[in-house]
Amino acid sequence: MYINFWYPIARSEEVSADKPLRVQLLGLPFVTFRDEDGKAHVLSDTCVHRGGSLSAGWVRGGRAVCPYHGWEFGGDGKCRHVPSLVGAKIPARAKVDSYPVQEKYGIVFAFLGDLPEEERPPLYNIEEYGDPGWKAQLYVINLNAYYERSMENGLDPIHNQFVHPKQGAPMLEPERQREPVPMEDIPWGSKFYMKYPIKLDQNTDLKDVKSGERIGAAGSWHQGPNQLVTWIDISKENAFHQYLFEAPVDDCSTRIFFINMRNWLLDDQYDERVEQATLEIVHEDVAILERLNPVRTPETNTKEILVPGDTAVVRYREYLKDWDARGWRIDFKALKERAGDVAFAIPSPGRREHGNWVLDPVPLKPGNPEMVGSATRGRQREAGAA
Ligand code: FES
Ligand SMILES: [Fe+2]
Repeated sequence: MYINFWYPIARSEEVSADKPLRVQLLGLPFVTFRDEDGKAHVLSDTCVHRGGSLSAGWVRGGRAVCPYHGWEFGGDGKCRHVPSLVGAKIPARAKVDSYPVQEKYGIVFAFLGDLPEEERPPLYNIEEYGDPGWKAQLYVINLNAYYERSMENGLDPIHNQFVHPKQGAPMLEPERQREPVPMEDIPWGSKFYMKYPIKLDQNTDLKDVKSGERIGAAGSWHQGPNQLVTWIDISKENAFHQYLFEAPVDDCSTRIFFINMRNWLLDDQYDERVEQATLEIVHEDVAILERLNPVRTPETNTKEILVPGDTAVVRYREYLKDWDARGWRIDFKALKERAGDVAFAIPSPGRREHGNWVLDPVPLKPGNPEMVGSATRGRQREAGAA
């Protein structure tokens, strides 16, 4: 789990100007609410007075009010009112971390880290979102598995055949399964997109609508550690584009914000059918992911046997190493060890601008500046044979 990336916090409609919402992510509590202009805010959920949970309070005049002694915090995290200090100066340290927010695709996202704007990895841009030729459905899936395992599942072109035998497509022919997956690098991630023998009549549920110039290609890519894209392009007019924004709740559970886009079956009457077929596939994946051992990806690839079909998984792990080298990985063991004794917060960009913060920043694994870029530099790699 890393600081300095964009994370999905909640569905837009869950975030209100009356009731704050508590959200757990990266092992820590956050609170989200709207101000009087309707703008969503995401703050650390720990009141710096004596540890009250802001999300157990209420929102008044666009501020989160702590239920314990009524301290009021603005969307910028600054304490604006202390009832027991009327007329006196509010202490300079009376502030909580406030995170940059973007609201897109019906989701409130927060940048959980302290990088200045120009250095932040991007929130994934879904180009076809809002295009009248495309329809989007958003599902939120709770998964009892570690998010990196889930990301790797999305980057695995071989499992379809075994985990989704009914859907079956896209399925890679056996002789191509032996070849390394052809990878390319994209900003903050890596990608494959290749021709598949996608039989048009394979999917029994959806076989009746097909038109357009045949493409017969599919692929997956990640941008950052927790944003995953899968395109299944049967033809120009029959495509599914899926966007998964993963929120690691802690080191063994994940909330996935899944946007399923399609440029066919656009009529509302197809929503249920598409949803049913999609969620069936998701649950097939969930059943596998929730029983993986170990729960988290082993520290070295020698603890598994990786084959050419795992190339994209290996590449993803190389990117994770790069973010390790930057010192962005949360030291979750240290966090757990001290949980209950220390309240932590993900450092927000405000910490680079001014000092005097009450909560400790979340413990991070030490980085290695000299290694930044070395794991991901240059050419594509073949999956290491054992
Ligand atoms: S703990 Fe929040 S106001 Fe006292
Ligand atoms: Fe799958």
